[in-house]
Amino acid sequence: MKDDKKIIKKGVSRRGFLKGAGLTTAGTIVLQTGVLAKTKENSVQSKTVGPGPVNVEMNVNGKTRSLTIEPRSTLAQALRDEIQLTGTKMVCDRGACSACTVWVDDIPVNACMTFAMDVGDRKVVTIEGLAENGKLHPIQEAFIDHDATQCGYCTPGMIMSTAHLLKENPNPTLEDVKHATRGNYCRCGTYPHVFKATLAAAKKIK
Ligand code: FES
Ligand code: FES
Repeated sequence: MKDDKKIIKKGVSRRGFLKGAGLTTAGTIVLQTGVLAKTKENSVQSKTVGPGPVNVEMNVNGKTRSLTIEPRSTLAQALRDEIQLTGTKMVCDRGACSACTVWVDDIPVNACMTFAMDVGDRKVVTIEGLAENGKLHPIQEAFIDHDATQCGYCTPGMIMSTAHLLKENPNPTLEDVKHATRGNYCRCGTYPHVFKATLAAAKKIK
């Protein structure tokens, strides 16, 4: 978040801000660099498209989906409005809360700050794609068991961030969990329950 604020202060345009900061989440600078590099290789920005709707295909939760979107559409808008995957929440819609966290090629990103057109052939995973064969992901079960949700607006983003942590680090410490969720804001203050749930899910997965 600190770096996002620096970008705003430099006075870039909204589009420039979205391009520069859109593929970050929770202030994870390493991830920002990796995904932006891919964006440069693969993006369609050199072609002129729009301003009207364009047809694109997107791999979401393992299925190829055909969408008709305006080039200005964010990934969050495309997921919610075009595919009706409303589990991805839009709360601030400006990269400040991470409620809209999804994975793009296994990297957590803020979907409200990512242009849908820039996803290209990368694989998107949303909260709806975490369960397998009708069975909830262990972190989803742990959130239920540990009462880690109140109003629920931050919950999908929290789960996508913590599930990613467990993929990368099966033995997280409390500090690791806090670090992984540092960009996820919960107005209801469920943080202690989120931390307990994540550590419990890690034990269960072992
Ligand atoms: S960061 Fe996307 S809705 Fe807040
Ligand atoms: S549960 Fe309400 S914002 Fe987190």
